[in-house]
Amino acid sequence: MSQKSDLIIRIGGEGGEGIISSGDILSQAAAKAGLEVLTFKTFPAEIRGGYAMYQIRMSSEKVLSEGDGFQVLVVFNKEALDANLKYLQPGNVLIWDGPEGGDIGDLDGIPELEGVITYSLPMSHLAKNELGVYRSKNMIAMGAVAELFDVPLDRLKGIVATKFGKKGQEIVDLNHKAIDMGVAYVKENHSKKDPYKVVPSDEEKDNIIIAGNDAVGMGAMIGGCDFFACYPITPATEIAYWVAKHLPKGNGVVMQTEDEISSIAAVIGASFAGAKPMTGTSGPGLALMIECLGLGSMVEAPMVICDVQRGGPSTGLPTKHETSDLFLACYGGHGDASRVVLAAENVNECVWLAAQAFNIAEHYQIPVILLSDGSMGFRTESIPTPDPSSFKRIDRKRHTGAPEDFARYKFTEDNISPTAVPGMEGCAHMQTGLEHNEKGSPNYGPEYHTKNIEKRYNKLNDIEDFFESSETDIQEGATLGVITFGSTQGCVREAVNRARAEGVKVSVFHPKLVYPMPMKALNAFLDTVDELLVPEVNYQGQLAEMLRTKTTKPITQYNIYGGLPFEPKDIVAKIKEVLS
Ligand code: COA
Repeated sequence: MSQKSDLIIRIGGEGGEGIISSGDILSQAAAKAGLEVLTFKTFPAEIRGGYAMYQIRMSSEKVLSEGDGFQVLVVFNKEALDANLKYLQPGNVLIWDGPEGGDIGDLDGIPELEGVITYSLPMSHLAKNELGVYRSKNMIAMGAVAELFDVPLDRLKGIVATKFGKKGQEIVDLNHKAIDMGVAYVKENHSKKDPYKVVPSDEEKDNIIIAGNDAVGMGAMIGGCDFFACYPITPATEIAYWVAKHLPKGNGVVMQTEDEISSIAAVIGASFAGAKPMTGTSGPGLALMIECLGLGSMVEAPMVICDVQRGGPSTGLPTKHETSDLFLACYGGHGDASRVVLAAENVNECVWLAAQAFNIAEHYQIPVILLSDGSMGFRTESIPTPDPSSFKRIDRKRHTGAPEDFARYKFTEDNISPTAVPGMEGCAHMQTGLEHNEKGSPNYGPEYHTKNIEKRYNKLNDIEDFFESSETDIQEGATLGVITFGSTQGCVREAVNRARAEGVKVSVFHPKLVYPMPMKALNAFLDTVDELLVPEVNYQGQLAEMLRTKTTKPITQYNIYGGLPFEPKDIVAKIKEVLS
């Protein structure tokens, strides 16, 4: 039996059947066993019903992406089986709710199951008839998974106790019993026919397991966020849950407003009052905020907006993955509205770029948009335990001279003006959406508009060096460079590692700062390659289009837009195709 240390388990069923709980519990048990985990979940927009899926990748190595397909599929109902038949490969394992009592029954005559290793598990039947509680069928399944693949049972039960503890000891005991029932069923009815195994790691890792949205909330607090306003929207709402739980402990304020326009307006007001404010939203919300984003740009308000992208346009695919807000984030709005746009690659970067967004906002006095996405917002990942003391917060430049010398929009050498907050004697000033003179009084003369627009853009001239704005991974002799943004980067890294292992030469550029582009680093990268491959989860090839304004080198776009992220094998194949 091979000692597999990179295992992907997919659990599918109906929303309401406890798919999400199963995945959370299994992934946390794996993390407790010292494994690195990265999860992927997708569920319907409906509150109950519809196909829900949770996939857990567990490995002794750092996990870079969701991976290719899965090795083990656990299906709770027929819909989940049907949805996954096309993905099942010979050698995969299928655990299904059957042969009796569930809605799957026998598997006879399903051609896609040729070569698939199957283990029956009548989870519905056992839950209803033996345990008397249908809801616990998911834990019967987790017991079977633990027995088949050596997931440490004590870890699994420990997580169950924590997760269901608030529902009462009775529920915990019931679910422990369900786990034991799954274990016993496998022992009595099956012998191991597959090579897959979870190999716990002895290595002590100072890791936490955290979801992307929670990581943004944590990063915001590390960055100094003390005011958060939002209108709930999938898939961004969990950022608000996180800050609502933690921000008030440090005298921060969390405000749920009546819509997204109000939330960004509140953020601008809080910024004026001296707070380090943030809002979290998704594409439709960002679209509503755009007019006020222009106001933030005009009044040079330090503020942070996190856009957890989802499939669009309009209400689109609320719970599905897409990275198609790049144009909106970089160019949305009327007039020349300066802003900074960052994109996080993984959950760890969600923490640190969210924190960094506050320093950038404060230093440059500008709206900063942090792009995340549905897949990363929902997924959990093991990351090194963040050490807030390693982060040095920056505060905006304050006026320190005589009150009569204060000018909010003073022209300075670095184009950054001093600020004052209400209550600073003699520093009362006006902030409106109108173009203004140095003191803030409306002035639409050509001189001020010209100078102010230049100021609002030129203050960003050195932003590329303000933080680690990009990463370059050049391979000697490579003629092809791959560039992408956001969570697709993890998949690109894994694909590039695999391609290189097969002798393919390829380089990678990862912009964390996507607007304005880190041109020094990008040009240095472009000097080393002849052509580019730009994979993106959007139809238009938004990053590719932006890059075409920066280089004349040939760009091959690789776009998918089915509501799912890339798989590394697809990018490996594309790299080879471009090079051939
Ligand atoms: N014993 C006791 N309780 C259990 C259990 C068990 N064995 N297994 C699950 N549960 C509980 C969970 O704790 C959870 O309870 P809670 O609501 O008190 O937290 C509940 O059952 C649901 O289970 P869960 O595993 O969290 O979810 P699910 O996989 O059954 O899927 C949703 C349901 C929630 C994912 C899904 O239907 C959903 O979120 N829909 C909304 C989508 C959305 O955001 N739409 C908006 C679009 S704009």
